[in-house]
Amino acid sequence: MIMKTFLLLPFIAAAVRAAVVPAVDPALHVHSSSTAKPQGRNVTINGVLTYVSLPKNRKFDPTTAVLLLTDVFGLPSPDNLLLADEWAAAGFQASARFSRDTYAPDYLNGDAIPMDGDLNTWIVNHGEAQTTPPLLAVIDALKSRGIKQIATTGYCFGGLYTVRLVQNNTVTVGTVAHPSLLEVPSDFDLMKAQSHIPIEINNAELDTGFTPDVALQTDAVMADGQYPPGYLRKQFDGVAHGFAVRANASDPVQVAAKQGAFDTSLAWIKAHLK
Ligand SMILES: *[C@@H]1O[C@H](CO)[C@@H](O)[C@H](O)[C@H]1NC(C)=O
Ligand SMILES: *[C@@H]1O[C@H](CO)[C@@H](O)[C@H](O)[C@H]1NC(C)=O
Ligand SMILES: *[C@@H]1O[C@H](CO)[C@@H](O)[C@H](O)[C@H]1NC(C)=O
Repeated sequence: MIMKTFLLLPFIAAAVRAAVVPAVDPALHVHSSSTAKPQGRNVTINGVLTYVSLPKNRKFDPTTAVLLLTDVFGLPSPDNLLLADEWAAAGFQASARFSRDTYAPDYLNGDAIPMDGDLNTWIVNHGEAQTTPPLLAVIDALKSRGIKQIATTGYCFGGLYTVRLVQNNTVTVGTVAHPSLLEVPSDFDLMKAQSHIPIEINNAELDTGFTPDVALQTDAVMADGQYPPGYLRKQFDGVAHGFAVRANASDPVQVAAKQGAFDTSLAWIKAHLK
């Protein structure tokens, strides 16, 4: 009898504990083949280096901004800057009303991980204590400049912070792609308990972090009207972690998935901005 109880306990503990979605090793990300040149510029906002990309059409709404939270490769990765350019350009193409500035703050404190970097040593200096202050400094500055609506789009590491901003009702709408470091389902239970901000998730079939199984656990808390502010999740098959940021131009599945994730997030944001 004693023996039996002893054996069962670890299983019970595992069933109730929330699982942390692991950060994914640089080597396991989708790799880019892009050589395009970013069009925006770096500015310092409230002491934080921020890449800013403006719509080409000067007639944009100055009260709305897209806040792009990059993956662990941060601003040194041209793919992140090109993605910010894509957000700015989408405003121009989609409609004059959706012409917004896009801001990508360096919330990695000048210490983005190199493509061949070691995640385990890097992550020690990139907890919420180090990451949240520069992020909130930029948001505060944007709000004090008259920006009333902030659409946040976060990728991998930036997915965690997008979820935090949504949980805290700091932004207007959120989209995330292949998020890492979340606790599932508890982070979504918390969102449900305190947030009124809509959220959309793009996930990859081959992600080793936010796996299809974790995605289903998230749906179990959020889908089917359980989250009244709004929830959508879309899975992209045949692609791996990082697919919404980078694609190999020679791989049509990767190219289509990256575009599909972008279009899904854009439509979600447009539907939820006033
Ligand atoms: C992109 O895909 C092609 C064709 O599969 C491959 O030869 C090339 O090495 C890939 N490039 C990168 C950067 O992974
Ligand atoms: C912005 O800063 C990042 C990080 O230092 C750098 O890699 C990038 O080339 C800069 N971009 C521009 C347009 O100056
Ligand atoms: C969200 O709120 C929690 C609880 O107050 C706080 O610890 C955390 O730093 C906040 N995060 C962000 C990104 O605002």
